[in-house]
Amino acid sequence: MAKRIVVLVSGGGTNLQALIDSVKSGYIDNGEIVAVISNNTGAYALERAKNAGIAAQCISPKDYPSRDDFNKALLEGVSAYKPDLIVLAGFLVAIPPAMVEAFPRKIINIHPSLIPSFCGKGFYGLKPHEAVLDRGVKVTGATVHFVDEGTDTGEIILQKAVDVMPGDTPEILQKRVMEQAEWQILPEAVRRFVNGEI
Ligand code: GAR
Repeated sequence: MAKRIVVLVSGGGTNLQALIDSVKSGYIDNGEIVAVISNNTGAYALERAKNAGIAAQCISPKDYPSRDDFNKALLEGVSAYKPDLIVLAGFLVAIPPAMVEAFPRKIINIHPSLIPSFCGKGFYGLKPHEAVLDRGVKVTGATVHFVDEGTDTGEIILQKAVDVMPGDTPEILQKRVMEQAEWQILPEAVRRFVNGEI
């Protein structure tokens, strides 16, 4: 039976789109995206989900009196879909420890750098790319890893390197890392996971 995948998102959702396309094309042949959940009402990723006929839901911290209440609602919201795999595809919220405990080795994250460089607290979105350019490294990339209690500390599943080019801006570099690494290794990691290869 196809594995049930829940994708958590915060923004534009290009990585989500890569997953939707990979399921549609049959590249991910043993998985179904059963829901997309965002912490952010305005996330375009939610539109992408709806356009693909996937259940789309917002669970926002703004709607809860405390962080604990939000964390509880998030765990309940995700658990309701009985996921075999939870994918953080640009989800910029710290995963509550109770969720890591509830889904050991079932949560994976895509990070836009070669971990252990340019990762950890505060490194999200454009930040890793800014830091890469500030430091002057010549190679960066992306990493898919399991989520544990730390920030970007879980076991690494896949990595892909991408060249930094003269004249890069954070935005140009971000786009290259997405095109040449993220949109490839995230679907590949999901395909391997649902086929029981990792
Ligand atoms: C992606 O670059 C993803 O790697 C990054 O956010 C972006 C989301 O883009 N994630 C992190 O920085 C996690 N620390 P998307 O919404 O278009 O997929």
